[in-house]
Order: sequence, then C-alpha cells, then structure tokens
Amino acid sequence: MKIVHIASEVFPYMKTGGLADVVGALSSTQADSGHEVSVIIPGYRLAMSHPDALQSERRLRLKIEMGEKFISGDVRVFSPKRNLSIYLICRDEFFDRRNPYGNGERDYEDNAERFIFFAKSAVEAIRLLDLQPDIVHSHDWQASLAPIFLRFSERRYGLTLAIKTILTIHNIAYQGLFPSAVFELTNLPRELNSVDGLEYYGQVNLLKGGILFADQVTTVSPRYAKEIQTTEFGFGLDGVVLSRSEGIIGLINGVDTQVWNPKTDTLIPARFSSNDLKGKATCRTALLRVAGFNPQFTGPLYGIVCRLVEQKGMDLLLENEEFFLKQNCRLVILGSGDQKIEARIRELQNQAPDKVFLNPKLDEAMSHLIEAGSDFFVMPSLFEPCGLNQMYSQIYGTVPIVSRVGGLVDTVIDIDEYATRGTGITHEPNAESLRAALKRSLVLFADKATYQEVQKRGMQTDFSWKKATLGYEKLYSDAL
Ligand code: ADP
Ligand code: GLC
Repeated sequence: MKIVHIASEVFPYMKTGGLADVVGALSSTQADSGHEVSVIIPGYRLAMSHPDALQSERRLRLKIEMGEKFISGDVRVFSPKRNLSIYLICRDEFFDRRNPYGNGERDYEDNAERFIFFAKSAVEAIRLLDLQPDIVHSHDWQASLAPIFLRFSERRYGLTLAIKTILTIHNIAYQGLFPSAVFELTNLPRELNSVDGLEYYGQVNLLKGGILFADQVTTVSPRYAKEIQTTEFGFGLDGVVLSRSEGIIGLINGVDTQVWNPKTDTLIPARFSSNDLKGKATCRTALLRVAGFNPQFTGPLYGIVCRLVEQKGMDLLLENEEFFLKQNCRLVILGSGDQKIEARIRELQNQAPDKVFLNPKLDEAMSHLIEAGSDFFVMPSLFEPCGLNQMYSQIYGTVPIVSRVGGLVDTVIDIDEYATRGTGITHEPNAESLRAALKRSLVLFADKATYQEVQKRGMQTDFSWKKATLGYEKLYSDAL
C-alpha cells in the first residue's frame, strides 16, 4: 500500500509528546512491512537542524491560497530508510521558531494560519508530487482538515476519489479552536461554516471538521474510544463523535522497541532483562546520583516523566505531598510545560531537596534513565487517550501506578484485582484514591518476592507495534 501520514510531530525530528513517538513508530513499522510510506510534517527549526534534514533536497515550490492571498512555501524531502520518506513543509515565517506551538505561556497567535497552511500544503504536495497514496492518514487537529482539503482538491482538478482518509485523534482536548474569521483562510464553501461543518458555538473547530469528513476516525485505545462519546471526556465534541454512525475505532498504540528496550538502550548506563536485573540496579544508582540523592538509598524511588499540563494529574500528586515528605521514599520528576505547575513542584522540592527532584526540561536521555532507574512510575492522569510511559515503565521493570482512565485501563492490570496477572497499581483519578495507591506501593515494595513477580510480568508483556500495525492494516483494507 502507499500510505501518507500527515502530522505535526514525528520522532526523532520533532517531539513534544507521545504523538511523535507514535507517528515515528507506526510509519517505520509500516515501511518495514513493505508499504511505501511518506510522512509530511512542518519544517520546524528543530526538525530542519536534524542531520538527516540537513541532507534533504528541495522538491517543490508551493503557492497556497489562504483567503484572499497566496502564500508560498517549499517542500523538502529526505529518506531515513527504505520505503520511508519524510516531507517537510517549509515556510520560515511560520515554522522557523524556537517552539512548535507557543512560547510556553501562550499559543502563537497565528496558529490557525500556520496549520491551515500546513494541511493545505500537504494536500498540494501529494497532488503535485503525484504520490498517489491509497491512504492519507491525518493525526490530531493540526492535520485534521487534510481530508476535507483533499476532497475539494480532487473535485477542482477532476482527480480520483479512490484515496481513503483516516483521522486519528490522539487527544480530543486539543481541537484547534479559533475565531470565526479564520474560516476565510480555508477557502472552503460557506455552507461548511455551519453546525454541520467546522462551526462550533460561533468559532471554528478544526478537529470537528476532521471528525465529520474523514472516511474513518480512530483513536489510540479502546477505552478512550468509549470515553470520548461521553460529556465527561468528550471536551464538547462528544456529540460530534457520536454522530459518526459507524463509530470510532480504538487501536492501542505500541512501543517502538528499537528505541525503548532495556536490552539495547544506549541512553542508560547499563542494560538489563527480566532474567538479569543487575543493570537495573546500576541505572537506579545513577538516577539517585543525577537527582543529588544518596546513591545508597534503599527505599522506594518514584519516577514521573510528563508534559506539565492539567491532564497529567500533578494536582493530585501535589495534594499528596504529605506522603512524599513523610515516607522514606524519593521522587524524581522530569517535566516541562505550564510554569504554574512547575512552580508548585519546585516548592515541594524546596521543602525536601533531599527527597524530591525536578528537572523542568525536555531531556530524552533522562526520560530513559527514569524509566530504567525507578521502582515505581507514577501517572495520575485525569484523562489519558493512550499513554506511553506506563508501557515503557513495564518494559523497564518499573511498576506503574496509574489512574483508571483511557489507555491506562487497557494497558495496566491491577495486582489486587488479579493477583496472578497484575502488572501495576491502579486508582481512581482523585487525590484520595491516589493516596491509597501510594500506600499500596509501600506494601508491595516491602514484599520483595511479589514485587519482583509483578516487575517481571510487566517486562514480559508484549507491547510491540506488531498488533497495532496489523490493526491499522485491517482498517486501511476495510476502508479501501
Ligand atoms: P502525551 O503524549 O500526552 O504527552 P504519552 O505518555 O503518550 O503522553 O507520551 C509522552 C512522551 O513524551 C513519552 O515518550 C515521554 O517520555 C516524553 N516526554 C514527556 N515529557 C518529557 C520530558 N520533559 N523530557 C523528555 N521526554 C518527555
Ligand atoms: C496524546 C495523548 C497520549 C497518547 C499520545 C499518542 O498526546 O495525550 O495519551 O499516548 O497522544 O497517541
């Protein structure tokens, strides 16, 4: 099959979260299975400075209609491996910036223009470069208008309608919601600026457009597919999701075992497996050292890696500060994002610098060290479409403590509910229930034999992309 992915992030060229890992691993696995795969992303400054991108060549000069203007851009391409091409949509004014979406406090004011330009350019590149895909697979709001632009482009140029479009929602909380005037930039027929189109309570909602017009809509776990049909988790789009009569398919993400594998990981100081955990002890000591703690510490070490946003439940964690202050334990957090959340964690660190450590940066190597060196991985998300870190931690023998939402439900089995199958500790998404879960972790940690059984079960779970790739293959074939 010829497959084109359109996404705002792909690892290792641009990453702020799991979207990048997933688009990277999915496209790479598809290429390995013999499909011809292209990934179209914005030519962000960071992506352009990657050594692979420095070798890219210019393929096309674009002129994109944006309202009453035409805006130009370039399409560059490189191929990191067989069957895989990465296309970069370049326009310095839009993408040559320090961050992809905003300055840390606020989103960029021209995000509508930037990403409408991106989605239109992706569709133009497919047409002008004659990529002739069977499937155009868009991800999240930044790419969600591509299915509509594709249909209008086909109509305008009298092209085939054989291409099928898929939209994957990685997080329905991010919708691309903009003032109504933005509709002009789409150059779509006026009737589409209505309740049956992009209009959403007087604004323009890009994700809504994708949900309505893609041939098939998917999300990243079966549980989240159900959740987003409810008012509690639908972020106002539950009605739109429900309006798709054939439903939304939930396919759980996999783990890229080329990148996340304790047997081969070169970002950690020692490698290990479920048969030989010595290397894990070395990683643990290294992590304690990096955090400035006594490397001989023997109590439980809790790790967290996440974007500091409300979704990740840091409020619940901070409501449990007593636990971390009083118990004989250590807490290491790697996370960047919301400065208010960062400040509150910093306060906790100031109260107990010998017990709590925060690294407020994006740090790929440290994210691997935390997965490898911690005893428990804490993920008290308020909602979680899939979540990757709870899978990474299981593979690295770090027992996850997660809230019972979204993909976390689909990937972590509670040890108290299923003593012989359990791989982690689960709790309701509230502070009290998290407190109980943390206490249960102390009991588990004290019982070394049981702890090791749980650890090994996690390490032996198959989280590879094999299953998910087959799921997407079936989805594509059914769509075609
Ligand atoms: P989300 O996509 O909602 O952020 P996921 O669990 O799906 O959550 O994926 C998060 C990804 O981003 C993981 O690969 C995680 O290791 C990574 N990550 C998050 N914060 C950081 C950070 N500060 N430094 C390095 N990697 C990070
Ligand atoms: C989103 C979600 C996360 C998911 C990731 C990849 O960022 O928040 O739960 O794992 O996308 O699909």
